[in-house]
Amino acid sequence: MDRIIVASHNLGKIKEIKKILEPLGVEVESAAELHLGDVEETGTTFEENARLKSEHFAKETGFWSLADDSGLCVKALNGRPGVYSARYAPNRDFDKGMDMLLEELSQAESKDRSAAFVCVLALTSPNGKTKIFEGKVEGKIAESKKGKDGFGFDALFVPENLSQTFAEISQEEKNKMSHRGRALQKLIEYIKTEK
Ligand code: IMP
Repeated sequence: MDRIIVASHNLGKIKEIKKILEPLGVEVESAAELHLGDVEETGTTFEENARLKSEHFAKETGFWSLADDSGLCVKALNGRPGVYSARYAPNRDFDKGMDMLLEELSQAESKDRSAAFVCVLALTSPNGKTKIFEGKVEGKIAESKKGKDGFGFDALFVPENLSQTFAEISQEEKNKMSHRGRALQKLIEYIKTEK
């Protein structure tokens, strides 16, 4: 497994995945860098969407392919936006999306601000076999946006045992505890046994 195609056009995610996998001696290229088309996320679960993407790009390129499907599940909103997180913000404008989430939460019946980021990784081999790795981080939605780093809903998410949001901490710190970092750790263990 010398080369993996990351089935994503999300630069924030690609950057995080590269940082974790490249030290293992795996060449990481993304669908965005290879100018490959997008795959429609028609699944209703994180796993279904991750599989759709990794299986598509493994077939198209003939290389190992890794896809991530992730999202923010907010308890008071019955787990939304969940698998629809990427589509929650109009035109992927997450600054606006975060304001909308705060507004929605202020109108919710429950005052519970608990939330979790969930990540499911699907790794598909050139012969089409897929393995699934999951990661989750519990936390809460901050009262207002804080921090300039990160992407998506980072500026609103305070992970458990921390008082800062994901947008206020370094990429290294985030990777140590994030949903994606945790799923990637499981993937790393698997890659080490496969190499
Ligand atoms: P998808 O997995 O490409 O469908 O997109 C997942 C969406 O969930 C992103 O567009 C973000 O809105 C949100 N999301 C997933 N992981 C993170 C994260 O680490 N930080 C902030 N937002 C995230």
